[in-house]
Amino acid sequence: MARAQRVRRRGRRLRAVALIGIDGSGKTTQAHQLADALNAAGVPANYLRNAGGRRWFGRLARRLGRADAQRLLGRNGLLLAESVLRWLAIARTLLRAALTRRVAVMDRYAYCQYASIRAHGGRRWETFARLVYRIFPPPGLTLLLTVDPAEAYRRIESRGTDHETMEYLNAADTAYRSLHEYPTFVVVDANGTPEQVAAAIGAEVARWLPESRRRAPKMPDQPPVKVPAAAPART
Ligand SMILES: Nc1ncnc2c1ncn2[C@@H]1O[C@H](COP(=O)(O)OP(=O)(O)OP(=O)(O)O)[C@@H](O)[C@H]1O
Ligand SMILES: [Mg+2]
Repeated sequence: MARAQRVRRRGRRLRAVALIGIDGSGKTTQAHQLADALNAAGVPANYLRNAGGRRWFGRLARRLGRADAQRLLGRNGLLLAESVLRWLAIARTLLRAALTRRVAVMDRYAYCQYASIRAHGGRRWETFARLVYRIFPPPGLTLLLTVDPAEAYRRIESRGTDHETMEYLNAADTAYRSLHEYPTFVVVDANGTPEQVAAAIGAEVARWLPESRRRAPKMPDQPPVKVPAAAPART
């Protein structure tokens, strides 16, 4: 087996890649594919999910006869629960990445929490979230998958595991673009086919590969990852 490669740029090793973006932009699909492609290229990588639990709370709410998670916990309660659960997930992810020294391909990151807070109109919670999340370093590479909210809506509906309103998807799209970290994100057009998006991501990640391995990691030829209906939490 080829010797494990370290991924570096300007002398820095790539420890973590975060995929962020609105629901239905393809984060989970692409994060799985990127981790697989890095491993196939001899760069040890793990797919790691930084879920906030919103989808899980949604299912719980329906089981308890409420329309959605917000009706169960209230807007502020849900934002608090999501902020705490995502904080724990990110802490576990970064710890695991440090212990294994494998590239962490992260499905969501702290920025998703700030965007969620803005999109749900709970702006005062952002101060709290930024205070407790500030111990998390910015990933070496943050990929913002941008997609037309109408396309994201169609994808979520055909996935069939949850539901989002166009109003929320538009607000989330605006929220990501309004973050002060936005200029540090690498924006990836995620409107294309999974293969086209994977190629764009592969090209970005390839910049971190050593000179001799500058070819983008080859993305496996496989259909988009289906998120199982029984997945415990939204990522
Ligand atoms: N480029 C694409 N074109 C068409 N369909 C896609 C594409 N990428 C992913 N899909 C499909 O769209 C749905 C949403 O993709 P995915 O679950 O990866 O998005 P996500 O950003 O992780 O969403 P969420 O934030 O809700 O977890 C899935 O059913 C997936 O198979
Ligand atoms: Mg997902």
